[in-house]
Amino acid sequence: MADRPSNDRSAVTQPHGEPVRRLTGQKALVTGGSSGIGEGIAIELGKAGADVVVNYLGNREAAEAVAQTIIDNGSKAYAHRADVSDESNVQEMFDRMRREFGTIDILVCNAGIQKDAGLLDMTIDQWRAVLDVNLTGQFLCAREAIREFKRRGVVEEVSCAAGKIISISSVHDIIPWAGHVNYAASKGGVKLLMQSIAQEVAPDRIRVNCLSPGAIRTPINRQAWESQEARDALMTLIPYNRIGEVDDVGRVAAWIASDDADYITGAVLYVDGGMTLYPGFETGG
Ligand code: BGC
Repeated sequence: MADRPSNDRSAVTQPHGEPVRRLTGQKALVTGGSSGIGEGIAIELGKAGADVVVNYLGNREAAEAVAQTIIDNGSKAYAHRADVSDESNVQEMFDRMRREFGTIDILVCNAGIQKDAGLLDMTIDQWRAVLDVNLTGQFLCAREAIREFKRRGVVEEVSCAAGKIISISSVHDIIPWAGHVNYAASKGGVKLLMQSIAQEVAPDRIRVNCLSPGAIRTPINRQAWESQEARDALMTLIPYNRIGEVDDVGRVAAWIASDDADYITGAVLYVDGGMTLYPGFETGG
């Protein structure tokens, strides 16, 4: 494409192939599943054979479209509205999942927002909204899932673990981010929240891991990839020289949820094209 910078490898072939249905019989819940990374994960879990609850807050039509795609690919799915930062909304969402699907095997804590401002301009509402959704929301959902995992225990025909939680964090759980202190604080919190939960529940054969994406092409960071100028600037931060796509994260989620990854817990896996490799040091230091 004429407008692509010479070092942007976004058009280069990405890994594809028939998905292995390694999650057959498993029930998954993806928060924030109506768009962006959550949509990509929900669809990939469905392709891997899981039945999926697609949680959303604002856009019912989009969530129902994601659920329909999953149904078209051969799994069960439905959309469910809930605010992940609201305790009773979260409990109702898990209650319904038990009624409709019987249980939960895989929780993907993906719902997240950005409300950016320089520190001195950041309002308490911007701070609280981001911490409430990105961090408290993960706590509330993880707690409900673990209650159910412990109640049910391991069902060997389904999985050798009693349950799996995949927490969607960010490269900004390790890379500081000026102008986004609420977001970076929430993601740094997510990383240690999840690792601490992983430590607590490992003896129950519950696995808890973080996927920490870099720049993935979604509505949340449109300004970082929409114009040629922005894409050029972005490529200086991504050694692999392409922006990520939502299925890059989705395929990793399907794998880490599967028994192929049974010995992985408490890990933070950066899905970032090398963004965390300090690319500024490629030629200096
Ligand atoms: C943020 C994006 C950003 C990316 C890399 C993500 O966690 O949500 O807005 O482009 O990190 O900086």
